[in-house]
Amino acid sequence: MANESNKPEFWESSFIDKQEMWGLEPSKSAVLTKDFFVSQSVKNILVPGIGYGRNAQIFIENGIAVTGIEISKTAIEMAGKHYGTQMTIHHGSVTDMPFDKYQYEGIFCYALIHLLAASERKKLILDCYNQIQKNGYMVFTAISKEAHTYGQGKFVSKDRYEIFDGVKMFFYDTESIHEEFDQAGLVEITKIKESQPFFMIKCKKAS
Ligand SMILES: C[S@@+](CC[C@H](N)C(=O)[O-])C[C@H]1O[C@@H](n2cnc3c(N)ncnc32)[C@H](O)[C@@H]1O
Repeated sequence: MANESNKPEFWESSFIDKQEMWGLEPSKSAVLTKDFFVSQSVKNILVPGIGYGRNAQIFIENGIAVTGIEISKTAIEMAGKHYGTQMTIHHGSVTDMPFDKYQYEGIFCYALIHLLAASERKKLILDCYNQIQKNGYMVFTAISKEAHTYGQGKFVSKDRYEIFDGVKMFFYDTESIHEEFDQAGLVEITKIKESQPFFMIKCKKAS
């Protein structure tokens, strides 16, 4: 299904043109989340917007089974090339979640939520919350208003800009994080510098 936030063809053509555009090393957030999930004995996770899997491999290496969701068929094929059949990836948009009935012990969602429109972000958070077990954790990373790209491009709505054709981004601050995640068991907000300033947003489902 088409979604109002992203043109799926933007991601498909980006992966066709630029292939492994972020390299094969995991992000800092993925490493920290892996450490946290290992400390909590998490054994399986869902990774919405998994791309070509660079942030998934580190979980698998640490005994955590990974299921992904990804809109780009080319990215899924690249994940298959690099990581074989080690992870299951559902092809489609997160706006069409859920793709399975499984309840995961954890969710790691890197640099996806800020690409979505307000109603889609709300649905993603709720769909993810519904797909974790009681006491399970969700970790989202999202771009911060401290990024130099904040305010660039075409204004769409408060804190949301069309950065390039077909890619709109919502820039978070702690206030908007509380607004969107308090209802989903928000437990911790951490600033982290990836290629741009990001937040790591950790939520826990009540028991
Ligand atoms: C900024 S990239 C991050 C990729 C990956 N998490 C990583 O860091 O390697 C966003 C990813 O989400 C995917 N994506 C974008 N919109 C999506 C949607 N509506 N549903 C599922 N995946 C989507 C893109 O194809 C891309 O792989």
